[in-house]
Amino acid sequence: LVQKDMAGLGVLVTAGPTREALDPVRYLTNRSSGKMGYAVARAARDRGARVTLISGPTALPPPPGISFKAVETALEMREAVLEAFGAADVVVMAAAVSDYRPATVSREKIKKGTVPVTLDLVPNPDIIEELGRIKGNRLLVGFAAETGDLVAHAQAKALKKNLDLVVANDVRQEGAGFAVDTNVVSLVFRDGQFLELPKMEKYAVAHRILDAVLELREDRVER
Ligand code: C5P
Repeated sequence: LVQKDMAGLGVLVTAGPTREALDPVRYLTNRSSGKMGYAVARAARDRGARVTLISGPTALPPPPGISFKAVETALEMREAVLEAFGAADVVVMAAAVSDYRPATVSREKIKKGTVPVTLDLVPNPDIIEELGRIKGNRLLVGFAAETGDLVAHAQAKALKKNLDLVVANDVRQEGAGFAVDTNVVSLVFRDGQFLELPKMEKYAVAHRILDAVLELREDRVER
């Protein structure tokens, strides 16, 4: 039986990829399945939190018992997140937001031709970095997919984006990262302390993340 140790807390979670349109029938996206973020949303719900899940397009059904909002683009995700942010005590940004979007969206289907074409891309806003600047006493958790120097890169990310915790995974490891049901992560704190977790189900990883979040909250109350 799961303890209701998050009762009364508002938890905002983002999950999945974003989808950036090129024209009416084409888009840029990434391999995120949404599984990690959905697992965090379910785990927080099971611990009694009020959960809002903002999701890019995934194949997963919305988990029962939470408030769910589907979005497509990074700009839509940003709007939805900013709207839900006020009511949140804990924010977990597991979404794989596209770093870039096409500079223009063609209103007509782009025609096939015989010469090479280039795509102009513009950077999307970094949503979590924006939240880091206005977070107040909310706890902010980010994710980092890395390919080496896991802890150092994750700590740098925590400091740069003003995050309390970074869930870092080495995407080169088997059973980690996109599309699979398991993950191998390290929980990295701002001070560089970290906890290396073994390979486990994403739902179990989610509970370990929430355990760390509650510990951070307790530390804060004691001081
Ligand atoms: O810097 P990097 O993209 O590796 O950071 C990943 C973290 O930042 C994730 O928590 C992701 O949800 C968040 N992110 C964001 N907006 C972006 C890009 C990443 O919120 N445009």
